[in-house]
Amino acid sequence: MQTHELVSLSGAVAVVTGGGRGIGQAIVTRLAAMEATVILTGRDEARVQQVARDLEARGHRAEGIGCDVTNLASVEALGDRLRKSYGRVDILVNNAGIGGPSGLLHELAPADWDAIFHTNLRGVYYMLRSVVPLMIATGAGHIINISSLAGKNPLPRAAYSASKWALNGLSYGVAEELRAQNIRVSVICPGSVDTGFSPRRGDKDTQKMLKPDDVAHAVVMLVTQEPQSFISEVLLRPTQKP
Ligand SMILES: NC(=O)c1ccc[n+]([C@@H]2O[C@H](COP(=O)([O-])OP(=O)(O)OC[C@H]3O[C@@H](n4cnc5c(N)ncnc54)[C@H](OP(=O)(O)O)[C@@H]3O)[C@@H](O)[C@H]2O)c1
Repeated sequence: MQTHELVSLSGAVAVVTGGGRGIGQAIVTRLAAMEATVILTGRDEARVQQVARDLEARGHRAEGIGCDVTNLASVEALGDRLRKSYGRVDILVNNAGIGGPSGLLHELAPADWDAIFHTNLRGVYYMLRSVVPLMIATGAGHIINISSLAGKNPLPRAAYSASKWALNGLSYGVAEELRAQNIRVSVICPGSVDTGFSPRRGDKDTQKMLKPDDVAHAVVMLVTQEPQSFISEVLLRPTQKP
């Protein structure tokens, strides 16, 4: 049952980082189907532009913009472009993320540590820096950070896990900072999702894993709440353990 799609997001501008594949692409597809104008970003500019063209060919409004969330200049350029082209951002989904190499923390190269934290945590801060002023100017907004159950439970892959624990902490704090401005900051913590991301995918029954669209469904649920309601966190598990 997908009754949320009866609600139109027409007129709303949604930005999804890492929107060219995996969970991000599923979120983009759902929001576009609900008539939002969707801006999808990623390092692979050709890929996000192709996904946007495919959506436009199906009658949706979409634009793909190359942007590396670890690069401050790249994120600031995105913010300028959003302000000039659209003048507003109603929904920001911070989805871009990396897992880093598998292995034990004491064997992790410092450059991999940096890449994980720069993408999963600092990248979100950069995006908030660029987009929150636009939301404050329009007096409302939804910010949805895609975290992980690895940010709620003790799990190996300590650096990735720590980056998501930190992302949860950042999300709770920013939510308190922005509540008074009618900006709702939520976090979605999925378990294993059947994308190219999951390192343990080969050990799991992919039929039982969450699908990217399950995360998109949770995003739709958050952005279709009544104005007085604020679901701050969603823990998303597969019905049966994969
Ligand atoms: N799959 C799972 O089991 C699972 C479970 C829980 C949470 N998550 C979280 O869900 C999010 C999406 O994961 P996924 O499964 O869809 O992974 P994915 O298929 O590997 O996609 C990752 C996305 O992030 C983008 N990205 C990575 N680094 C980036 C950067 N520096 N700048 C901009 N974009 C960047 C990628 O685009 P480009 O390569 O074009 O930059 C890609 O679109 C991540 O935050 C992940 O931690 C995943």
